[in-house]
Amino acid sequence: MSGNITFTIIKPDAVSKNYTEAIFEKIEKAGFEVLKRKDVCLTKELADNFYEIHKGQPFFAGLVEFMTSGPIVVAALKKGNAVEDFRATIGKTNPLEAAEGTIRKVYGEMVSRNAIHGSDSDENAQREIRFFFTPEEVEF
Ligand code: RTP
Ligand code: MG
Repeated sequence: MSGNITFTIIKPDAVSKNYTEAIFEKIEKAGFEVLKRKDVCLTKELADNFYEIHKGQPFFAGLVEFMTSGPIVVAALKKGNAVEDFRATIGKTNPLEAAEGTIRKVYGEMVSRNAIHGSDSDENAQREIRFFFTPEEVEF
């Protein structure tokens, strides 16, 4: 049985282009409730940690550099079947391959600047929420 919580990051490319509010509108229109959000600046150490699963990948250094290049917005989201439905809402990792109307299709540029993150499992959603929010911030 899948959970009803997922986690997202509006990435530096989208924040710097002032897409944040338009993206949250799209997220809410897709049926997600924004439980908590905040602005964050990632240090290299934090980004290394957040993406540790990708350590060793050829794109890792570029990913960390990109994610530390400017402010991001993190948020916990609620909806039935949250993880799977949100991955469908944002579209494929590569915006050029993402379906029409998906967030990455509309707001992403390329695989390394793809506007938004969505958790890929219930377990990772919980891990990622704990990574960015204190227990007091996420009493929901
Ligand atoms: P995300 O974690 O950001 O929601 O993206 P995802 O699950 O669709 O993709 P993932 O495999 O977790 O990769 C994390 C981020 O790394 C960058 N990436 N670049 N150059 C490449 O081939 C490549 N592959 C992945 C993307 O920015 C991706 O969002
Ligand atoms: Mg991922």
